[in-house]
Amino acid sequence: MASGNLPRPTAPGEGEEKLIEVATRYRANAISKRSGFSVGAAIQDESGRIWGGCNIENSTYGLTVCAERVAIWKALSEGVRRFRAVAIVTGADEPTPPCGACRQILWEFAGDVPIIAATPQGKKKRFQLRELFPEPFEF
Ligand code: THU
Repeated sequence: MASGNLPRPTAPGEGEEKLIEVATRYRANAISKRSGFSVGAAIQDESGRIWGGCNIENSTYGLTVCAERVAIWKALSEGVRRFRAVAIVTGADEPTPPCGACRQILWEFAGDVPIIAATPQGKKKRFQLRELFPEPFEF
């Protein structure tokens, strides 16, 4: 379960700003000293609950897990199967869409969801997963 006062999962019915707020809060938990790039993600399920995640790096580098996957793994492992939207917050100058691996995972488990990428300075970019991942591998 969550540590500290992190809001997870939260009440249903919250919108984009709430999703960004949760992603921002989870970003503070990133374990990212190897890259120096901290990421927070939040995914809202069909009932409105929001699941947060941060990137987690380790000494192997290759076993790093992105914030988006941490967030969706948490939801999936609690039995959640349907999702509405994803938010991603990084410290880059411009909002960053998810990496290729996360696009595959989000596509498989969340489908064609809206994705909002944001920065702490308030810049935002909105995507639909289908446009970021137009020829999905499915099997
Ligand atoms: N990262 C994410 O958490 N999400 C993404 O979509 C892109 C990359 C993380 C992985 C690694 O810890 C750091 O950002 C630099 O790539």
